[in-house]
Amino acid sequence: MQALNKWWIPAGLVASLACVVAVAQKPDTRKTEPVAETPVEKPKAAKPYSLESFMRKKLDASSKILEGLCQEDAALVKAGAEELSAMSRVEIWNVMLDAEYRQHSIEFRDNAARVAEAAEAGQFDKAALRWFDVTMSCLDCHDHVRKERAARKTEASEPDANEEKSQSEKSKPDK
Ligand code: HEC
Repeated sequence: MQALNKWWIPAGLVASLACVVAVAQKPDTRKTEPVAETPVEKPKAAKPYSLESFMRKKLDASSKILEGLCQEDAALVKAGAEELSAMSRVEIWNVMLDAEYRQHSIEFRDNAARVAEAAEAGQFDKAALRWFDVTMSCLDCHDHVRKERAARKTEASEPDANEEKSQSEKSKPDK
């Protein structure tokens, strides 16, 4: 839960730009104006909505795809795949900005597009296999996110980690 807090903030920013401006200006207004004179509505804090519920919507889109595959309903499969694909283009999606995260996002989108393509062609067996690829993309990306976070934590608590690396590099060339 604690880890999530960090992400609610950017989520809130995306959710409402007006809010951001309000938050950004608030400290100044407070300093210069008496509090009584400014019964301004409180800027809404980053809501617990946002990233978590956004991310959970992938489950809804996924079950659309699964239902579509079960019922051989190409339109439903396509709708779910397009939802997933669209989600991965929204700014809030980019929780991480490293190359690997981006790569996972691209693969995820490609795989989702392939599911839709196969379903539209009436090839539901193929679409089902492609769906596995999408599912693996889900897991791979989450795995990456977890590892990346763990690595960041370690870096934060062990400032010498980089030094160790450079030392081992130094010890490589023999004299
Ligand atoms: C490119 C990366 C990526 C891909 C692909 C991806 N996710 Fe996620 N997912 C995330 C990130 C980042 C979070 C937020 C993790 C956090 O902040 O703790 C998340 C969170 C979630 C959560 C938890 C939300 C919560 O309650 O906190 C669910 C459920 C989820 N994803 C489902 C899926 C499903 C289903 C798929 C595939 C159809 C998928 N994800 C694909 C990156 C990804």
